[in-house]
Amino acid sequence: MSRAEQIPTQRSASYEADPEQVHRVLLLYSGGLDTSVMLKWIQDSYGAEVVCLTVNLGQPGEDYEVIRGKALSLGALECHVVDAREQFAREYLAPAIKANAMYGGYPLFTALGRPLIAKLAVEQARASGCDTIAHGCTGKGNDQVRIEATVATLAPELKVIAPVRSWQMGREEEIAYAREHGIPVKAAQGAEGGAPYSIDDNLWGRSSEGRWIEDLSHAPDDDVFQLVTRPEDAPAEAQELELGFERGVPVSLDGQRLGLVELIERVAEIGARHGVGIVDHVEDRIVGLKVRDIYEVPAAAVILPAHQDLERLVCTIHQNQFKPALDRQWAYLVYAGLWWEPLRADLDAYMDSVNERVTGTIGVKLYKGHARVITRASENAVYDASLASFAESGGLFSQTASPGFIELFSLQSRMAWRLHNR
Ligand code: ARG
Repeated sequence: MSRAEQIPTQRSASYEADPEQVHRVLLLYSGGLDTSVMLKWIQDSYGAEVVCLTVNLGQPGEDYEVIRGKALSLGALECHVVDAREQFAREYLAPAIKANAMYGGYPLFTALGRPLIAKLAVEQARASGCDTIAHGCTGKGNDQVRIEATVATLAPELKVIAPVRSWQMGREEEIAYAREHGIPVKAAQGAEGGAPYSIDDNLWGRSSEGRWIEDLSHAPDDDVFQLVTRPEDAPAEAQELELGFERGVPVSLDGQRLGLVELIERVAEIGARHGVGIVDHVEDRIVGLKVRDIYEVPAAAVILPAHQDLERLVCTIHQNQFKPALDRQWAYLVYAGLWWEPLRADLDAYMDSVNERVTGTIGVKLYKGHARVITRASENAVYDASLASFAESGGLFSQTASPGFIELFSLQSRMAWRLHNR
């Protein structure tokens, strides 16, 4: 069977490309094995031109000039590298912080990056005259949902192909294809090196999947931790830091004003040094599977609890009862790839409204894998030390009123109890 015969002929969605429609493809290119094989394979199988786009969302240790050079040497017509860190921080991470965005116990980060990557792909596809967008997601993950939902929403005129999902190549065959077509294969990627972890990372976190992680009874091997120090190896000295927030967004670290990107990078470094932000998690995917991931989220594991603590301090009991349900809905929509769903914008309006008052400072103590809030200060705190104190009475709070309050507050519960226990 020739490679060309592997072009899918069965299409189940309107936005999937008919091979005849594919003339110039915008490929989301990472420089890794899958997308490098895709770059050649699309040229060969579709006879199409390929324009590459590589997006910098703050994933550490990338050399974008090397990635660009590789794309061009593999026949890309153009290779664009976009540094989207500022935009990512401002338009995606700041709203996520205001919404305390966690899904099933871990901070969202891949789910925040994908809609931006896909939006940038749409913009570049239009600018470069492409008719199709190609990505390297498999058919089992959430990322295909996030990318394709974005493209189909923002650019109904563009088609999508997902070669990794449709081609029949296994890993060995992919490596053979790469060797045959002069695509550099790292020794560690070769058949002898075994499959690597499947990694996704950005400014806000890193995830690893595959290999032993798929065995739920296998405790983490040390080599999976590439970002965060293992807590048992973290310094024996605790470290304290102070985060300043304005309207829900962190703006300073230990009194020094910083842009959001730099602040996140610095907090990540401190958190990582102290072993903070390791999450071993089995997620309920949108596509129905349960899959285990190992996450390293050192910045989010410090900043989110600090934000949430400050938010609780400036909000009333009623706001504090209500907001977590909306936070959960926000995170679920974004996890599920529906970034462009109007409900998300509606929820953002609420998040912004609450966060108008989330200004102040939070002290956090980091020690061997833990980050704990230890101090709080805000002009907007719904807190009065003299009212809260055991030592004093009077002012807005009358202790003599308490029994009357208890009598009325418990009235229906007492009546019901009596009825049910007659
Ligand atoms: N499971 C996470 C999510 O759906 C992260 C996926 C990242 N991809 C990877 N190849 N590790 O948000």
